[in-house]
Amino acid sequence: MRAALNQMFADAKAAKMPLAVRSGYRSWAVQDASFKRAYAKYGEGARRYYAEAGHSEHQTGLSLDLSDGTSMQGYKFAATKQAGWVAANAARYGFIIRYPEGKRHITGVDHEPWHIRYVGVEVAAAMAKTPGITLEEYLGLV
Ligand code: DAL
Ligand code: ZN
Repeated sequence: MRAALNQMFADAKAAKMPLAVRSGYRSWAVQDASFKRAYAKYGEGARRYYAEAGHSEHQTGLSLDLSDGTSMQGYKFAATKQAGWVAANAARYGFIIRYPEGKRHITGVDHEPWHIRYVGVEVAAAMAKTPGITLEEYLGLV
């Protein structure tokens, strides 16, 4: 996965679309603190963007949040030109946008254009044939 990510970052940079990892692997303790902080602030609404410890793919090391390399807040990535580039190109490197738009009823999470998950080139290519498909749908879980 690291090699795929490095290649994607190199190609993005060459296309003048610099990318950086804002948040990658998160331990139980880090995820727990992050969820609890969000929950204290937003209550149940926090679940739209924050997974409880034990339910986050960040804990697997296979998911990560992207930024444009500046210190902007994560959700602002949606408005960057990089978000479009990632949506169009991530599959070539084996990554999917894990929480597509309009699929919260399936994934439980709102659209997160910054959150990608490594599934390998073969699965990512198959999924790319149906734009907006979720991993749950692809795997036949729903
Ligand atoms: N933002 C996603 C849902 C997570 O916390 O894993
Ligand atoms: Zn994430």
